[in-house]
Formats: sequence, structure tokens, C-alpha cells
Amino acid sequence: MLSRDAGELCVDGLRLCDIAAEFGTPAYVYSWPTIEARYREMAAALADVRGQIRYAVKANGSLAILSRLAGLGAGFDIVSGGELERVMRSGGSPAKVVFSGVGKSTVEIDFAIKAGIECFNVESASELARIEARARLLGCRAPVSVRVNPDVDPGTHPYIATGLKNSKFGVPANVALDLYASAAASDALAVVGIDCHIGSQITAAAPFATALERLLELAATLARQGIDVRHIDIGGGFGVCYRDEEPFDLEGFAATLASQLAGTDLAVLVEPGRSLVADAGILLTRIEYLKAAGERQFAVVDAAMNDLIRPALYDAWHGVEKVGDGPGQQGIWDIVGPVCESGDFLAHERDLELAEGDLLAIRNAGAYGFSQSSNYNTRPRPPEILVEDGHTVLARRRETAADLLHLECV
Ligand code: LLP
Repeated sequence: MLSRDAGELCVDGLRLCDIAAEFGTPAYVYSWPTIEARYREMAAALADVRGQIRYAVKANGSLAILSRLAGLGAGFDIVSGGELERVMRSGGSPAKVVFSGVGKSTVEIDFAIKAGIECFNVESASELARIEARARLLGCRAPVSVRVNPDVDPGTHPYIATGLKNSKFGVPANVALDLYASAAASDALAVVGIDCHIGSQITAAAPFATALERLLELAATLARQGIDVRHIDIGGGFGVCYRDEEPFDLEGFAATLASQLAGTDLAVLVEPGRSLVADAGILLTRIEYLKAAGERQFAVVDAAMNDLIRPALYDAWHGVEKVGDGPGQQGIWDIVGPVCESGDFLAHERDLELAEGDLLAIRNAGAYGFSQSSNYNTRPRPPEILVEDGHTVLARRRETAADLLHLECV
């Protein structure tokens, strides 16, 4: 999606300097054709197992993106009532929504039951009891899947590994068996699936195969007890290349999946977030000041940790590219924001030729960028701009100070 035209960095052929001139900086810029291509690649890879995509809204919940994904046939993985609201406003079908998360509130459960979601991915015995009680009260049968913690090490950052036995997510296999037994015996619940999600930014296919193996064993045990699940949901977590990671082998993953599932008639769900949107987005920012301190050289830009927290939170690496090709000061630069914390950085030690006023593109920022942004330091959040068919769509306008303050009183 990124290319250069006479030295100027472009997204799908549109010059980022023109986008900055029209919408200001900082700004998130997304390429819809890139998201669509990633979606189609994944759908095609999973066609043999009739895999269905439930896009993880948390990665990027922009209504403009959700509505276009819904148009391609995507369903959604949500973790809050707010995300369900997003899906419904964007025209997504609740019948293709799975609801994950360890802390679903009563209000959220009622909302999801009434909306008619595809299933609750249940994460504890207490949650199952609550869903059952609410469904009974509402005179419905709530569809459930139990999130199994397969105790697999996905080899990723500890903050985003979720399938190890000491994590707060899911339940171990032996507990899952008990939950299924009580769900199957209830007239307010319908057992529909089994699921797991082992972590995020996983670059190897092997942990998925191990997790699936454990889920299939459990499904077989359940079948022997007369409890049939219709679908198996293996979660999301497919890694992308931020720096020098091996590209995730989607084809190999799909082939392993097909062989593991041979002989079963289970429907397959996946919950990708990052792998559909990360590469499709950049954070466009302008250098305010260059300064030196001790041995370090800083480029102070107008985007900050409140706009993109991944570097500060996970020490994540995002590529930084100069948008123009004008002259500057060659050096090893730390790219930092205006927020009053030393943890406010977007990149460390980048070899770049920079001048004040230059535009920079922070790459691979389409996932967990805007969706994790905040108003820390009372900073209005940037606009989100979608590039589609060679033009820009303002998916979300820049916030103003008034937007930030209107809920408060003195
Ligand atoms: N399903 C469930 C139940 C999840 O918890 C997640 C992500 C996904 C699917 C999607 O995972 P993905 O395909 O995007 O890896 N903020 C972190 C990532 C947190 C992931 C949380 N759960 C980051 O910026 O790296």
C-alpha cells in the first residue's frame, strides 16, 4: 500500500503530504484495499475447512471498516456491549457475533441475548450461571461455547499471551467438561461451540495446532457424553511483520487445520484482528522540534503515546519513514511525543535524515493504534482517514477540546 511518487510517500497512490495538508496531523490513515485483500486472503486460505471469519473488533473498531468488512461477509468477535453497539451501527449481523471476555456484565449479557448473538464464549462457571439466569429471565435460550485454556505457550509478549494455565482467560479442560455438562442440562442454554484464544502476534503455526489438538480431544470426549458442539473457534493471534518477523504461514496453517479436522463436520471460526488491519494503517505525524540531550537526539513529533501506546506499553517496534525526501540532519533519532513522560516514545534510535516540519509515517499502526488511544494530557485524538478507490473518506473527524470536556461540569 505504501509507495513513492517523485520522492513523496503515498498510500494507494495518494500523497501523504496532501492528506496532511487537508486533514492536519497527527492522523491515522488506513488503506481499505489492503484490509480487503487481507480478508480475502484469509477467507480463501480457510475455504477448504469452510472457515468463517469473526473479526476482532478491538483491533480497530472504526465503523467505516466494520461496515465494509460486514459487506464482505465477516462476522465479529466482541468483548463489550460497546463493541456490539459498533457492530450493529455498522450493519453487521448479531447472528455472526461471538462475545469473548472474562468480565461480561449483566447489562452486556442482556443486550447480547436480546440482540441474538451467535454465541457467548464463556470464561468461568460463575459467568455461565449468570448467562443462564439472565436467559431464563428473558425467556430465551442463550447459545454458549466454553473458552478452553489449552495451556499452550504462544511465544509472544507476556502481556498478550492468553493461553497459559496461569492466565485469567478461559477454563482448563477438566472444568470445561463440568461447564458443558451443566449447560447441556439447562433449558435456558444451548451448547453451540468450543473455543480458545491463545495470544496475539503469534508468528508460528505450531501453537495453534497444539491448541486445536487439545480442543478436538475435548470435543471428542463431549461427543461420547452425548454433547455435540457445532463449531470450533480457534481465536485470533496471527502475527504480522513489524520488523523482521517471519511472515505467518497462513497456507501452512490452513493445511494443518484441514488435516486435523478431517473426519469431523465441525464448522471453523477464527477471530483475527491484527492480521487484517495492522499493515493497512499508518500514523501520520509532523516533527515539531529537533533537540539534543546528553548523547541522544530527539525528534519531538505531534503524535504521542496517547495516540499510539504500543511502543510504550510493549516496547513494540514500528517502522518510521520520512514522508518527503527533503534535506535534513542525518543522525540516530529517538522519535518522541509531547506527553510528559519519558515512556512517551514512538521509536528509539532510528537512522534518519530529519528537519523540523518534516512529516513521518509510523508504519503498521492499523491494529491496536487508534483503538487503544486515549485523551491523556487532554490531547484530542487524531482523525481516522480511509483511502478507498483513490480518494479519502473521513471515517472519524479530529476531536476538539470541546468534545473532551462536554461530559464534565465545574
Ligand atoms: N480473540 C480474542 C478473544 C482476543 O482476546 C483477541 C485479542 C483476538 C481475538 C484478536 O487477536 P489478534 O488477531 O489481533 O492478535 N493490544 C495488543 C494486542 C492485544 C490482543 C488482545 N486480544 C497489541 O497492541 O499488541
